[in-house]
Amino acid sequence: MNDINQLQAELQGQSPRSILKAAFQRYENIAISFSGAEDVVLIEMAHRLTDNLKVFTIDTGRLHPETYEFLEQVRKHYDLDIEVLFPDSQEVQELVRDKGLFSFYEDGHSECCGIRKVNPLRKKLAQVDAWITGQRKDQSPGTRNDVPTVQLDSAFSTPAHPLVKFNPLANWSSQEVWDYIRISEAPYNKLHEKGFVSIGCQPCTRPVLPGQHEREGRWWWEEATKKECGLHADNLIASTQSH
Ligand code: ADX
Ligand code: SF4
Repeated sequence: MNDINQLQAELQGQSPRSILKAAFQRYENIAISFSGAEDVVLIEMAHRLTDNLKVFTIDTGRLHPETYEFLEQVRKHYDLDIEVLFPDSQEVQELVRDKGLFSFYEDGHSECCGIRKVNPLRKKLAQVDAWITGQRKDQSPGTRNDVPTVQLDSAFSTPAHPLVKFNPLANWSSQEVWDYIRISEAPYNKLHEKGFVSIGCQPCTRPVLPGQHEREGRWWWEEATKKECGLHADNLIASTQSH
């Protein structure tokens, strides 16, 4: 923990590129968690920094066609093996049998996200020493205000397996991310041309209107404080502690 505090102090105020560089220098068994949205900037930066780039994505089975096309475009553009994680078919089958395909509109997203996103992620994270996410503070004022550049993952660490989580974009704004995408001519998800800012699963994501916050396009039928799906449950733990 002291070690993480020290690293946090060192990386505070550093650029995303420097944070990524430090992450790759420190950990060999490390992977980028790629959602198929503007977090492509991490891949754009990282592929220039390491020959050992590992990227995974969680295919919940409910993504937009544009996101699948984009994942394929990224795979080809960077000549990259993207590891695609799938949920357990038995768990999905039971959920759909018991509650149908849209239960999240009735009793909240946590059960479906648990099965389709969090469980496959937990399995993957048990195999790495550190992971890299595209989380930013400005993505969700309600839950991500305190996202640090590096942290001990309080949601997925176990006593036997401490897991480190890097958030190199934590202090970047959406504007900075998009400036980087444009300048580097990185590919991007075509949904962004259709008014989508934050992108998740198709039934739980919608475009936002001018002036609306990007998070309002996610799980719009739920309260802002609940808008974490469990991938970053440590944000909810941190926000309840600070209030
Ligand atoms: S979410 O928790 O609300 O779905 P968000 O869409 O803001 O997350 O993305 C933040 C970061 O979480 C992404 O940059 C990525 O690192 C990770 N992430 C989100 N969705 C996925 C996914 N389907 N597969 C892999 N990583 C993901
Ligand atoms: Fe299910 Fe929606 Fe969560 Fe996707 S975002 S896993 S469809 S509840």
